[in-house]
Amino acid sequence: PLSLPGGLDAPAPHRVADRYAAVERPHPGHFENTPDSDPSVAAVREWGAGIHARVASSTLGERGVQQARLTSTDQLTTVLDRVRTAGGTWAGWSGAARGAVLHAVGDALEANRAALVEVMAAEAGKTIDQADPEVSEAIDFAHFYGELAAQLDEVDGATYTPAALTLVTPPWNFPVAIPAGSTLAALAAGSAVVLKPAPPAERCGAVLASVIETALDAHGAPADLLAFVQVAEDELGKELITAPQVDRVILTGAYETAELFRSFRPDLPLLAETSGKNAIIVTPSADLDLAVKDVVASAFGHAGQKCSAASLVVLVGSVARSRRFRSQLLDAVSSLTVGYPSDPTTQMGPVIEPAAGKLLEGLTTLGAGEQWAVTPKRLDDTGRLWSPGVRGGVRRGSAFHRTEYFGPILGIMTASTLDEAIDIVNEVDYGLTSGLHSLDPAEIGTWLDRIQAGNLYVNRGITGAIVRRQPFGGWKKSAVGAGTKAGGLNYLLGLGSWSTAPAQT
Ligand code: ALA
Repeated sequence: PLSLPGGLDAPAPHRVADRYAAVERPHPGHFENTPDSDPSVAAVREWGAGIHARVASSTLGERGVQQARLTSTDQLTTVLDRVRTAGGTWAGWSGAARGAVLHAVGDALEANRAALVEVMAAEAGKTIDQADPEVSEAIDFAHFYGELAAQLDEVDGATYTPAALTLVTPPWNFPVAIPAGSTLAALAAGSAVVLKPAPPAERCGAVLASVIETALDAHGAPADLLAFVQVAEDELGKELITAPQVDRVILTGAYETAELFRSFRPDLPLLAETSGKNAIIVTPSADLDLAVKDVVASAFGHAGQKCSAASLVVLVGSVARSRRFRSQLLDAVSSLTVGYPSDPTTQMGPVIEPAAGKLLEGLTTLGAGEQWAVTPKRLDDTGRLWSPGVRGGVRRGSAFHRTEYFGPILGIMTASTLDEAIDIVNEVDYGLTSGLHSLDPAEIGTWLDRIQAGNLYVNRGITGAIVRRQPFGGWKKSAVGAGTKAGGLNYLLGLGSWSTAPAQT
């Protein structure tokens, strides 16, 4: 009853080299001076046209979502009991044996890269250049956690009991990498998983779960080790969160969602990465061209719908006073090509659902003293396609300074000194990512000492944490519960309980 759709209808595999050639040269115009007879250009064009056509008509994952929908407490209980039983069996495997299965999952994700990219673009509005590295991140998680699983066998002097059942509730904005990372961490730790996708990206979840589940089955993992379920976010959803069979919940989502989960069950064993209101500080010593590029990519990649996105840029001293940085930034933002992922010229895609509530307010309403430096415009009738916005004159303590809007809007703030800029950034309740553009080692040192955020980036964009190089997670209101960062051994340790006493038999 828990089986997911077979036959993913994936496009034919294509060579990695072709894929990156297409990603790096997304604009047909770039080919204009290259003869059509060049076979590599023809191959890239053919691949590009094929995948964009598939995105426009994709129905991947629909069947999987239908099969996964649970509508009664009885169904829910049956699923949870089965998964929990599978978790008990899986916990008896050595970490090395679990790790080997995770490596196989990584290979399966690579083999299904095209399908995963397609469903992310079709359902979640991710442009191909955003979706493709997301699959890479999921693959990296599989291999990295596969290695860490083996390390769990080496821990001496303590008895480790994995959680039998981990509930994974990912967000819609990274609909493959985040559910994959959370699921694979729990599997590596020795726990079974119930994966409940965010409704706007449930087809992505179905395709991902199907790929993982097929690989688990093929490598002899216990049946029902992973269950993909969809329940309405009503009473049944609450029953899922509070079910006694659930030992751990991994949530990535809004801070308010973590609070809601905790209001359902105050002692909920929760590992949550939550909201962000992230800034990049640019000082006069910075490479300003690089800063423009990194601010634009961090603010408007995936239309700003990333917990890690830059939503503020704080200009220090002469950068604030001169016109140079500002005019280059505004030119760069204004020149972004906005569209749907099915159009290969698109640089910034749509927001996932018609803008409403806080996002709509952010796109349409200015605070005191603010003015649009680049005015966001609604570009079609769907309410999903907006051109990017930049607001100048954002004041300290204002709504835009402190609130997460989760869309394609950047605010410009100014400071006289680096210390003042750091104070401005630290005043925000969240602390997820933060960036500094400066070529002055003393400034970099000051900033590293004082800045309050979980993930720090110097002279680089502030999105796109790299698995293995850095764990990812927040500080202050950007983390709730255990709060350990995803992507490290500590994260796995948080998915079980440890005792220094010898095992009871
Ligand atoms: N891990 C994602 C990033 O770093 C959220 O952008």
